[in-house]
Amino acid sequence: ARKVIMDCDPGIDDALALMLALSLPGLDVIGITVVCGNVPVEKGVKNALKILELMNRTEIPVYAGEAKPLVRPYVDAMDTHGGDGLGESAFPDPAGSPAEADAVSYLSDVLLSEEQVSVIALGPLTNLARLLERSPEAFARIQELVSMGGTYKSHGNCSPVAEYNYWCDPDAAAKVFEAYASLPELSGKNIHMIGLDVTRKIVLTPNLIEYMKRLHPFLGGKIEAITRFYLDFHWEQEGIIGCVINDPLAVAYFADHSICSGFDAYTAVETGGISYGQTLVDACEFWKKPHNSHILTETDPYRFWLLFCCRVLGADET
Ligand code: BDR
Ligand code: CA
Repeated sequence: ARKVIMDCDPGIDDALALMLALSLPGLDVIGITVVCGNVPVEKGVKNALKILELMNRTEIPVYAGEAKPLVRPYVDAMDTHGGDGLGESAFPDPAGSPAEADAVSYLSDVLLSEEQVSVIALGPLTNLARLLERSPEAFARIQELVSMGGTYKSHGNCSPVAEYNYWCDPDAAAKVFEAYASLPELSGKNIHMIGLDVTRKIVLTPNLIEYMKRLHPFLGGKIEAITRFYLDFHWEQEGIIGCVINDPLAVAYFADHSICSGFDAYTAVETGGISYGQTLVDACEFWKKPHNSHILTETDPYRFWLLFCCRVLGADET
C-alpha cells in the first residue's frame, strides 16, 4: 500500500474523502494534518477525530496545523459546511485528542525519515507552504502531491474565477505551485490538480444516498446526516437536487490515476487584485515555463461512485 498523509480541513466533502481513503486497501493513511479552511483548525481537528472514530481507525494520528492563511485574513466556509463543519450532524465530541506535534513539524519529520510518502491536500495549501519555507528538503521528498483546488476552464466557486482552497490562501497556493517550477529537487515532478472542472461532475443525489443506506445502513446513515445540510444549501441557493462533492475525487484519483485524465502545463496562482486565487493554466505555452502541474480535466463519475460504494459501503463489484 502507498503511504499517504491526508492534509485537510474537514469539511463535509473532506469527511467523505477521509472515509474513502480509510477504505482503500491500496492506501496506507499514516497521518492526518489539519489546516484552517472550511472551519477553524481546532474544529477541523475534532472533525478528523470524529471520522476516525466512525471508521474505527483511531490509531491514525491527527496533527493541528496552521490557523490562518500566510497573508490574507482568514475566511471560513461554514455557510456551506454548517457551524460544526460536518453539516450540523450533531456527532458526539470525539474521545481522542490530537497528537502533540504541530502539522508542519510532523510533515517535516516524517518526510525526512520515511521513504515514499505522498500527500493528498484537500484544503488550502497553507501547511504545505509553511513546510516549504521551513524545510524545502522535506517538501521535495513528497512522492506525489494531489491537490483538490483551482480551475482550468470552469468558473470559480468563491469569485468568478477562483475556487475556495486557493482563494482562501492564494499566497500559499502560489508558493507551492512555483516550487514545482523552480526547485531543482522537484524538477520532473508535477502537482496533480483536481480542480472544479472535474469535481463539478461528482454530484451526490438523494437517490444515491438511499442506495448507500441500503448497502450499509450505519455508514449510509452517517453520510446522509453529514450531507443533508449541503443538499439543502444547493437546493435553496441554486435550485439543484444534489450536491457537488469535491474532495473524494482527489483520493480516488490518487488510488487510480485512470479515473481522471488531463495534461501537463505550467500553472501560476494569482495572489492580488480582484482575481486572486485564480489558477492561470498556460495550456498554450505562452510563457514557455517548465511544467509544474498535471491538470485533470475529465473524469467518469460512474466509475467514481462505483469505487466509493464498493469500498466504503461494501457494494458488490459486479
Ligand atoms: C473545496 O473547498 C472546500 O469547501 C471543500 O472542502 C473543497 O476542498 C472546494 O472548492
Ligand atoms: Ca476541503
